[in-house]
Amino acid sequence: MNWRSFIVTLINCIVWSIQVIQLNGTGIKNLGRTRDSFRAVQVPQQFYDAIEQSDFSKHSLQNKLEHFLEKLQKNLTISAVLSDSEDIVTSERNYVYKMRELSTFFYEASFSFEQFSSDIQTFYETSKNASYALLFKLRQVPTGQPTLVKALLTNYFAEIEFFHVLFSEIIDDAMEYSTKSLKWIQELFVYYADTQNNILENWKLKTNLECCKLYVNFLQDQSSQIFKCATVDNLNIIYDVYSVTKLNIKYILRQLEFRIQRLFNCLLYNSPNIQCKLLKRAEKDLKTLFRNLSELDMFIDIKTKKGKAAALRFRRGNTWNSNQIKLEPNQNYCLPIGFPNTQMSTDLKECFYFLDNIV
Ligand SMILES: *[C@@H]1O[C@H](CO)[C@@H](O)[C@H](O)[C@H]1NC(C)=O
Ligand SMILES: *[C@@H]1O[C@H](CO)[C@@H](O)[C@H](O)[C@H]1NC(C)=O
Ligand SMILES: *[C@@H]1O[C@H](CO)[C@@H](O)[C@H](O)[C@H]1NC(C)=O
Ligand SMILES: *[C@@H]1O[C@H](CO)[C@@H](O)[C@H](O)[C@H]1NC(C)=O
Repeated sequence: MNWRSFIVTLINCIVWSIQVIQLNGTGIKNLGRTRDSFRAVQVPQQFYDAIEQSDFSKHSLQNKLEHFLEKLQKNLTISAVLSDSEDIVTSERNYVYKMRELSTFFYEASFSFEQFSSDIQTFYETSKNASYALLFKLRQVPTGQPTLVKALLTNYFAEIEFFHVLFSEIIDDAMEYSTKSLKWIQELFVYYADTQNNILENWKLKTNLECCKLYVNFLQDQSSQIFKCATVDNLNIIYDVYSVTKLNIKYILRQLEFRIQRLFNCLLYNSPNIQCKLLKRAEKDLKTLFRNLSELDMFIDIKTKKGKAAALRFRRGNTWNSNQIKLEPNQNYCLPIGFPNTQMSTDLKECFYFLDNIV
């Protein structure tokens, strides 16, 4: 070996080893990046935050409505409304205060309905986004897979995409039902509170004992009827739909997360073990999830149809969908036609200066 060939060999060796180091380096780097994105295959934190928030506003709403009938009984007694004071001014002030307190309750409750509705909506939207985010992860599977694996991946991807579309549609159904129903109750409560304030401001009740008694009884009656009619059945359905949908969404998203992670694992380590077989049977792999989805769909369908049927049975007139409160009494089956006048006895009507002038 002469010097020349030795030097050439030496240079070749150096170049070769540099290439090896680079190759190893890039290999490791790629693996590292894949591992990072693999670690990121998870339901976004936003999803869990949204659940927490909607659970919280559900509890606030429940707290607000709790023991309403008992409180109504307790708050609206003649002795509570008309203080014992001999002083007419004090008595009057107390009366106005008590009347305001009742309408305030209905305003506050309507706000709780609105809050719950808005948080439910955010939660459902976030769930759809989370499902989409998982789907999107699957698109980022490391490139350079063999052709067969590529084909299987495409198939798997199509299945999950289809799943995502169904999932979103079902969530939209649950969302539409819940937000509409909650808005309906919210508007009723605001209307009822507005009506009370209107009577208080403009009708001018004669504040003798007899008239106060009649009016307090009227408020007791109407408040409890409207409250029961609007909340008892409707709210139970709304809570049911929320809980069951939430349970299913959580389960489904975790399962998707798990499956996609498993897929990444398999491709990453390219191990010929059982895990990779799931690629070959995408339909089977997702079968239970599709079944969960169809059960949820049926549940929502049955629940909301029942709710809708009850509402439609009594509803007259057109629907309302603007944000503004334009509730006409005959648009809500919990509100008797011609409310409040039609529900007042002749004796009670005679207690208002305002109606005196009309009748
Ligand atoms: C990468 O480096 C390791 C030692 O760190 C070595 O054993 C392996 O052969 C190298 N890989 C390639 C493809 O050269
Ligand atoms: C009853 O009175 C309490 C305290 O005065 C008040 O906070 C509550 O909102 C009232 N409830 C109803 C239903 O009027
Ligand atoms: C869901 O994703 C869309 C589009 O990326 C975004 O505009 C929207 O704000 C997201 N919604 C929630 C509740 O995160
Ligand atoms: C989804 O289906 C599986 C298998 O049928 C069942 O074990 C699981 O409890 C279901 N999940 C929910 C949230 O119903």
